[in-house]
Amino acid sequence: MSITYKDEAGIAGMRVACRLASEVLDYLTPLIQPGITTLEIDRLAAEYMKQQGTRSATIGYQPSGYPPYPGHLCTSLNQVVCHGIPNEKPLKKGDILNVDVTVITPEGWYGDNSRMFMIGGEAACSIQARRLCHITFEAMWKGIAMVKPGVRLGDIGHAIQTFAESNGFTVVREFCGHGIGQRFHEDPQVLHYGRPGTLEELKPGMTFTIEPMINAGKRDIKELGDGWTIVTKDRSLSAQWEHTILVTPTGYEVLTLSAGSPPVPAFVSQAPATV
Ligand code: MF3
Ligand code: CO
Ligand code: CO
Repeated sequence: MSITYKDEAGIAGMRVACRLASEVLDYLTPLIQPGITTLEIDRLAAEYMKQQGTRSATIGYQPSGYPPYPGHLCTSLNQVVCHGIPNEKPLKKGDILNVDVTVITPEGWYGDNSRMFMIGGEAACSIQARRLCHITFEAMWKGIAMVKPGVRLGDIGHAIQTFAESNGFTVVREFCGHGIGQRFHEDPQVLHYGRPGTLEELKPGMTFTIEPMINAGKRDIKELGDGWTIVTKDRSLSAQWEHTILVTPTGYEVLTLSAGSPPVPAFVSQAPATV
C-alpha cells in the first residue's frame, strides 16, 4: 500500500465523513451516563448513523488474522486500551470510557475519531483517572500542533511521547494512527513515540489520524481471548483520544470537529481552520 494524497474533491469528501463521525459522538455524549450499557450505546449509534446516511466502518471489519469485529463502534473501559467490544455491563460512576467511532459515507469516505468520557462526571472519577484523560487529550493535541508540510512523522511521535512521559505516563507502542481516506487504514503508520527528524515527511493532501493510547502504569499490553480487546498488562488505567487531520499547504485542518468537540487547548496557537 502507499500514501494517498487527496485532491479538492477528496478533501471535500473527507470533511463530510469526519464531521459526521464527530457528530455521532456529539449525539452520544449526553446519553453516556451511569447505568447505560455499552451495547445500548452501540445500538443508539447504529440508529443515528442510519439517520445520517452513513454506516459503521467497524462492524464486520476483519483485518487478516482477526475475527470479524462485532460492534458499530469500540467502547474501551478503564484498563481496556482499545478495541473494546460493546457488552451488557452497565457503566458505573467513576469509570473512564473511550468511545471510538468510524463512519463511511455513501461516497465511500471514512471519518475516524474517539473521545474519553468520565462516567458520572469529572468529580466522580479518581484524581489519577482525571489526570490521565486530560494529559492524553493534550498529548493528542501536542501531536496535532506539529502538523505542517516538511515536518516528519517522527517529530509528531516525539512530541506526544515526551509530553506523556514527562507527566509520568507511558505510551502504547503496538497500535498507532494511520492514513485514512477511501479505506479505513492506509499508509502511513503514525507512531505516538519516536525520534525527531525521522520517518515520512508530511505533504499537503495527506489525511491521517493521531490517536495516542496512554497508560497510567507500564506500557505493556495483552490481548483478551475474544481476539480484539486489548488491556494493559498491569491492569492500570488507559486513555485515548483520536482526531482525523488534513495536512494543508500552511499547517493542518482538524477534520473531526463539530459543535460538541471539546475546546482546543490553550497551547495550540494556530487558529483552527474553518470550512
Ligand atoms: N477506530 C479504530 C482506529 O482508530 C479501529 C477500530 S477497528 C475495530 O483505528 F475493528 F476494532 F473496530
Ligand atoms: Co483510527
Ligand atoms: Co478510531
